Amino acid sequence: MLRLAADTDPAWVRAAVSRLDAVLLDHMHCEKKAAATALSLINRYPFHAELVDRMVEHAAEELDHFRQVLAICRARGLTLGRDSADPYVNRLLEHARRDEPARLLDALVVAALIEARSCERFQLLAAALPDGPERRLFEELLPTEARHYALFMDLARTYCGADAAAHRLDEYAVIEAAIVRSLPNEPRVHG
Ligand SMILES: [Fe+2]
Ligand SMILES: [Fe+2]
Repeated sequence: MLRLAADTDPAWVRAAVSRLDAVLLDHMHCEKKAAATALSLINRYPFHAELVDRMVEHAAEELDHFRQVLAICRARGLTLGRDSADPYVNRLLEHARRDEPARLLDALVVAALIEARSCERFQLLAAALPDGPERRLFEELLPTEARHYALFMDLARTYCGADAAAHRLDEYAVIEAAIVRSLPNEPRVHG
């Protein structure tokens, strides 16, 4: 169901499991940024009623994920640091168009692909980790991220048309796959 054009390299799973603290700290910031992205879409498109309603709910849900990951980081005694630049997201956004209506379509498709990649990676982490609160967290978040992917694609179809949404998803999935393959396998959710 997820339209990813490349699977994650097993080397990433090994890197992530061996440096789980770093992954969790990065994951915590990802959840916070997901909530912030939802709010920025409301800010940019207040006249799209369905988008506003669904992004209000989405922001609340992502903030709740942030709280869950924060609790796990604290339970592990981790020191929270400032967020660092996310090369994966920055490189995805380099391909986003600036003029409407393409700007909205690209924002929604990029958000959908980020959710899809998170879902794929949570599945890999859940399978690789021993039983414990971290594995249970990833198992719990997995179906939610799949639902978020569907949410962003629903909005893309609503506001930009089914054909345009499907076409841009195909194009962007190829871009996303090339970015994922080129990144060093760092202990980050999208590293
Ligand atoms: Fe989330
Ligand atoms: Fe999400």
